[in-house]
Amino acid sequence: MSSESNLAQIGVVGLAVMGSNLARNFASRGHTVAVYNRSTEKTTRFMEDFGETGNFLPAETIEEFVSRLERPRRAIIMVQAGAATDAVINQLADAMDDGDVIIDGGNSLFTDTIRREKEMAQRNRHFVGAGISGGEEGALRGPAIMPGGPKESWESLGPLLESIAAVAPDGTPCVDHIGPDGSGHYVKMVHNGIEYADMQVIGEAYQLLRFGAGLEPAEIAEIFAEWNKGDLDSYLIEITAEVLRQVDAETGKPLVDVILDAAGQKGTGRWTVKQALDLGVPTTAIGEAVFARALSSSLDQRKAAQGNLPSGTLAGFEELGISREDFIERVRKALYASKLVAYAQGFDEIRAGSEEYGWDIDRGRLATIWREGCIIRAAFLDRIKEAYDKDPALTSLLLDPYFHTELSDLVDAWRDVVIYATRQGLPAPVFTSSLAYYDSLRAERLPAAIIQSQRDFFGAHTYQRVDKEGTFHTEWSGDRSETKLN
Ligand code: 6PG
Repeated sequence: MSSESNLAQIGVVGLAVMGSNLARNFASRGHTVAVYNRSTEKTTRFMEDFGETGNFLPAETIEEFVSRLERPRRAIIMVQAGAATDAVINQLADAMDDGDVIIDGGNSLFTDTIRREKEMAQRNRHFVGAGISGGEEGALRGPAIMPGGPKESWESLGPLLESIAAVAPDGTPCVDHIGPDGSGHYVKMVHNGIEYADMQVIGEAYQLLRFGAGLEPAEIAEIFAEWNKGDLDSYLIEITAEVLRQVDAETGKPLVDVILDAAGQKGTGRWTVKQALDLGVPTTAIGEAVFARALSSSLDQRKAAQGNLPSGTLAGFEELGISREDFIERVRKALYASKLVAYAQGFDEIRAGSEEYGWDIDRGRLATIWREGCIIRAAFLDRIKEAYDKDPALTSLLLDPYFHTELSDLVDAWRDVVIYATRQGLPAPVFTSSLAYYDSLRAERLPAAIIQSQRDFFGAHTYQRVDKEGTFHTEWSGDRSETKLN
């Protein structure tokens, strides 16, 4: 019930679905929650729909909203990332006092968060950029939360966020202070990049089973449901099985067949790849997944190419000479291996960002947060947590003894599936490029020596030698002698 006399422990600005679900989640844990939306109609609607379900204090202006918060005041902004977020932050900061906490719970670009945190620190406001994952349902019942910002803010905010977060099987709440300024939004960005890759590899497995092995969506649903009981146990596999069972009421066809095969994106996957490019981290699986969405949406080009580009000689499923059961199991293994690469690369990007921005992010703790509530929640995050707990400086997840053993069991099937996919002319960009990444990591020699020679040839960019220290240049257009430059 709303009450005029008490003050709220937390406030939520922005009452679209995510904001209102988060407000309801706080209220369901016994907190009094102030709520505000720029258009009052939404606040009124919220109170009509949910006012009786918890202790909410509605406000018509930002000033009224702030006056309803207990000190230090804590307000979570759940509005559109970008200009709208800046506007609300400044309004809140004007109405607040020293030490009050402003939390941005949207998918903001982490560099915006770094800027905002600096601006707010100058005004003695604590600014927390918090990645929140779990979609609408997660916001209501328990999301994974990744707050960055000043450590002091965590003292007043931690218990509140812990009360609404998802809880991992061992009882740990899926929230923890990630590090300073933009670190929370940074890890959420990479989470979404991994999400893109994870969704894509599941899509590739579906594609191979459907158009390679000729299985129907309902049959693939059963296979995915089965996979969900083992190493691949994850939210995304679970919902894909549900999706594949769904029949379109209008046509009676599997719903997946009547959905346009052009994937959208709001941008966090793309940001992950842009950042990876800037930091020089090869997040190839995420990159391929982002490009796969872009390619799927290039409808004119696809239409022009369909049935038009030469396929070469393709092998049908029967000609591949393996049983359907065998093929299904190999696809499972290829999916698992590619997924491992995507996570390993994502965690590499987190380490690189942490070093670049001085955040000191603990990857084991991060894996703990991702075990429940978020979109990429998966049983194998327990293993990732163990891997980083054992060795916080682990060079690559793929080198952890557990995953190393898993890979020995997966790699043959992975190679087979890449071959089968190619022979059948079925695109599997993340399966394929992840295997190339894996083999590149393993390779004793890479063709980069050729690239270095070429660079030196046309631009005197110099090279280093394997057998002695220093920087060298060959006089390519002269007598081809080598000079040591330093
Ligand atoms: C989550 C999701 C959520 C959302 C993204 C991705 O963690 O709850 O990642 O943030 O689904 O906006 O959306 P796009 O696929 O549109 O980029």
